[in-house]
Amino acid sequence: MILLKHYGELSLLSSIVIVSNKKTKLDKSLSEEVHSFHKKFHKGEEKFDFLKTINGFVFFVKEEQKVEELRVLGSKVLGYLTKDNKSIYFSGESEAILAVTEGLILSSYQFIAYFKDAEKKKLGLSEVFLPTEISQKKLDELASIAKAVFWARDRVNEPVSHLNATQLAEHIAALAPEAGFSVQILEKTQIESLKMGGLLAVNRGSIDPPTFTIVEYKPEKAINKKPIVLVGKGVVYDTGGLSLKPTPASMDVMKCDMAGGACVVGAIYLAALQKLKVHIIALVPATDNRPGMNAYTPGDVITMYDGTTVEVLNTDAEGRMILADALAYANKFKPELVIDAATLTGAAVRAIGTKASIVMGNADNKYFDLLEKSGNETHERVVRFPFWDDYAEEMKSKIADLKNIGGANAGMITAGKFLEHFVKAPYIHMDIAGPAWLDAKEDYKGQGGTGAGVRLLYNFLKKLK
Ligand code: BES
Ligand code: ZN
Ligand code: ZN
Repeated sequence: MILLKHYGELSLLSSIVIVSNKKTKLDKSLSEEVHSFHKKFHKGEEKFDFLKTINGFVFFVKEEQKVEELRVLGSKVLGYLTKDNKSIYFSGESEAILAVTEGLILSSYQFIAYFKDAEKKKLGLSEVFLPTEISQKKLDELASIAKAVFWARDRVNEPVSHLNATQLAEHIAALAPEAGFSVQILEKTQIESLKMGGLLAVNRGSIDPPTFTIVEYKPEKAINKKPIVLVGKGVVYDTGGLSLKPTPASMDVMKCDMAGGACVVGAIYLAALQKLKVHIIALVPATDNRPGMNAYTPGDVITMYDGTTVEVLNTDAEGRMILADALAYANKFKPELVIDAATLTGAAVRAIGTKASIVMGNADNKYFDLLEKSGNETHERVVRFPFWDDYAEEMKSKIADLKNIGGANAGMITAGKFLEHFVKAPYIHMDIAGPAWLDAKEDYKGQGGTGAGVRLLYNFLKKLK
């Protein structure tokens, strides 16, 4: 992890990023070449340019840009650095520097542990120096953001060969000492005595037991009387089960199917590191979904944790089966608000691609407004979809209370209506199937697991009143 530090004087022996406007007066210690390049840069149209020096690079970034453009330029800066560039200094206006730094830090993520020559592949950059006008608090927040996002990305990128349900639960528990939250892991026997029929049904084809992880962060003098409960889909691998998925561009990326779980744990971890005054609980039901053993089958009728019966018509609609039990379990906390995050439907990806999450629900508009605002600020954008009861009609079964699939259209909404059935508190459902995973590298989001939703939910929790 790159360290963020303050500096007293610019080091001319390192690479430098100058975030500036026309009126900015450059540090006198910088060379004549840099001064004249800077003048020319501000006469031109380009928003970014650089000068190669004997000590590395001097990058020039125009200050008057959208925050997201600045983040993206941060990832561009990182792209030029070589193994020899161990440190980089920033000068300029604080807000703009922070945005560039956020992009640079977030794009420094690497998932390389499985390479024989991992050490060789490792980035050279290890320290970022920022002006003292940027508070220590801001530095710490940025470091925590990177930590939580990288934690989530790591879990998503770990294949099921190295991250089964038990391992996921253990990884969550390992955060507790640092975060100062409590973690309770329910094991298979406890899940059985609780009669979590949905989670157990999906697990029936697996040789690995399921887990149900409960994280609670309860600070003193929390602003909320009733907790905010976050629920994340923890399908550590989704083969589709007996309704088996095809491999290319489908099953082959399904280690990402616990990204919702990684997202909500990343968010509560970040909230705890930053000591937000919000009482938060995160629930992560986890299992893989496989066609082995005594796998649940299309046609089965399952009795869920809350007693609802569900006719399974497609074993690939497993996320809603495990989330339903977790959402019903959330009722016991009498939450102010329940938000779930899940890589739930291909329909969500087909509708809007990877650029945003789809959100829907019955919670008060003020929560959706806040979420939308957080989405725009973090550029983890959300699009609200309709949630009319008409869609719930499609989830009625001829032989049970519900069936687990709807019709051919609006699959992301019928899935959401299925989940709503189990929730008693105000509810927001986030389908993150699009942005949770990227097949090709995209600026500071990288390739593979993106950690989608961590910054979004943290920003949202921070704004709560
Ligand atoms: N995990 C998938 C959804 C998914 C698709 C996530 C693409 C990420 C990228 C989910 O369990 C699933 O298979 N959903 C089915 C539901 C259908 C059978 C009703 C789908 O969307 O096809
Ligand atoms: Zn599935
Ligand atoms: Zn799935």
